[in-house]
Amino acid sequence: MTTTAKTRITWLGHATVLIQTPKGTNLLIDPFIQHNPKYPKDFELPSKLDAILLTHGHGDHMSDAAPVAKEHGTKVVAIYELADYIAGQGVKETVGMNLGGTVTIGDAAVTMVDAKHSSGAQDEKGVHYVGVAAGYVISIEGGPVLYHAGDTCVFGDMTLIHQLYKPTVAMLPIGGFYTMDPKEAAFASGLLKPEVILPIHWGTFPPLVGTPEQLAALVEPGAKVVNWKPGDGFEA
Ligand code: NI
Ligand code: MN
Repeated sequence: MTTTAKTRITWLGHATVLIQTPKGTNLLIDPFIQHNPKYPKDFELPSKLDAILLTHGHGDHMSDAAPVAKEHGTKVVAIYELADYIAGQGVKETVGMNLGGTVTIGDAAVTMVDAKHSSGAQDEKGVHYVGVAAGYVISIEGGPVLYHAGDTCVFGDMTLIHQLYKPTVAMLPIGGFYTMDPKEAAFASGLLKPEVILPIHWGTFPPLVGTPEQLAALVEPGAKVVNWKPGDGFEA
């Protein structure tokens, strides 16, 4: 079945993204709100949030997961050990999956895929092992296939993500220092072959110097780089 309604992707600064599907499924990836200098100030999250997806345990990806989950009555999806850690922060419903697994949320099939990055959760008691870093492929029923890479360098198995899932929209980190920079992201685009790249994880902090303009100058023709600002939406 196909539908004419679109999926809306809203960038909330850094790696925080809200995805709203044609059937009204709302997914929030990597909520970093209170201490995110680029979070659009007046943005209000929808009251109905079906799931929060976490890519890894660093604070700039999950520091607002528990508060938002509690306020909105939302389940948190993460790799097993991170889901356990989040449950320990008082979140009632968590889904602890692992790489290669898929969970269905409304009209979205959410698959946890590989990423190359560290992952540890830091709090007043120290640093905790919370599994490895991940990305997500989100296949919308009758709609696009989206890929959120999380924090990662470029890696050869992005080819597998293309072969298996064929995402048309890729949310890629481009800031550099902690993740891919534009040169690596352009190479990633060659492996993933998306139609559209939505650059994330740039411009938030001084070391994240990569820009969409730099990426656009490096990607092969065929992939469109969207130069968006926090608060902007993209429809696919
Ligand atoms: Ni990180
Ligand atoms: Mn990060």
